[in-house]
Amino acid sequence: MQKKLVPEYIEKLEVYQAGKPIEELAREKGLTKISKLASNENPLGPSPFAIREMTNALWDVHRYPDMFAHQLKNALCELYRLKPQNIILGNGSEGIMGYIVRAFLQPNEEVVTSENTFIGFLILAKSVGAKLIQVPRRPDYKYDVKAMAEKITENTKIVYIANPDNPTGTYITKEEFDYLMKHVPSHTIVILDEAYFEFAQGQWDYPDSMNYRYDNVITLRTFSKAYGISGIRCGYGFGHEYLIGNLHKVKLPFEPSLIAQKGAYGALKDYPHLLRTLENNKARYDELFKYLTDHGFNPIPSVTNFITIKTGSEEASLFLYNELLNHGVIIRPLRANLMPDHVRISIGTKEEMSHLYEAMDDVLPRYKQKFGGA
Ligand SMILES: Cc1ncc(COP(=O)(O)O)c(C=O)c1O
Repeated sequence: MQKKLVPEYIEKLEVYQAGKPIEELAREKGLTKISKLASNENPLGPSPFAIREMTNALWDVHRYPDMFAHQLKNALCELYRLKPQNIILGNGSEGIMGYIVRAFLQPNEEVVTSENTFIGFLILAKSVGAKLIQVPRRPDYKYDVKAMAEKITENTKIVYIANPDNPTGTYITKEEFDYLMKHVPSHTIVILDEAYFEFAQGQWDYPDSMNYRYDNVITLRTFSKAYGISGIRCGYGFGHEYLIGNLHKVKLPFEPSLIAQKGAYGALKDYPHLLRTLENNKARYDELFKYLTDHGFNPIPSVTNFITIKTGSEEASLFLYNELLNHGVIIRPLRANLMPDHVRISIGTKEEMSHLYEAMDDVLPRYKQKFGGA
């Protein structure tokens, strides 16, 4: 038999579909006013501290960056009272997920996670030929932690938990995390993907992974969401130095870039910007939740910077998505997450949300005529 150029498990993968870029919609529809509420970014933009650090760093881009990223790591160590050997940096938290699968996951090993969770990790796991075991969610959209624990076997290498989860915005509680950890053997690595940590940390029963010290848990966090610099790609991971040390062996030495390291450092130092971000998010979240409820939807309570709603069918999701695009508002249909009968709306600025409401006011009468109440 002829040998294949590309392994079958790669051929079967589908390319990740990001939220529609603003420029693309502007080009397609000739619109000038566009509100992108599709990728859970920070609508307030980057911190001025981050911009200053990045701008200054432009003069040094003829040099390779510090491969140990001392400045940024030290700032993280100070913030979280950690040692540098417990931290890894990467091109976004997805960059670190890439290191994790490269270092620890082998073909046919199993990854246990929930159905309909963050696709980025699922693609990476499949890209090394691992076997995905995805457990159905509970009716309230939360991870079914008990069912996940039951799926853990000798062959389970990774348990992946997005906490809070994207695209549902739900979270596993301290109690659920304790339950899960009782069922995780020492040969299994738990990834706690806390991309939305800053938004969720106020919940009394949210298990902030910094308060735990498990040798087999890796926490992932990012500068892409609350810190507002997704465009430069910088994320960080915490874990036992044995795991982190091994991740460094497969890490590309100069990731993240100089600009990313500097921008992240600046963002980390601008606490007021983070507070403004969280305040805007809380106010706009409450308004959006109310708007959706008042208009007959049943939004999934979320502890993040987005809200997901059930439309009832893929046709209804695409109708809403396309009609809102005509108004210059980009939301996210969730077909790729195998939730085609749902859409996700990111929280924007006050102006962006007013734009959404105006567009929805125009679209919803036709939507309801076609698909009935939400
Ligand atoms: C749960 C989750 N994890 C990770 C990421 C990726 O973040 P980063 O930009 O740090 O790679 C996202 C982005 O949407 C996410 O929703």
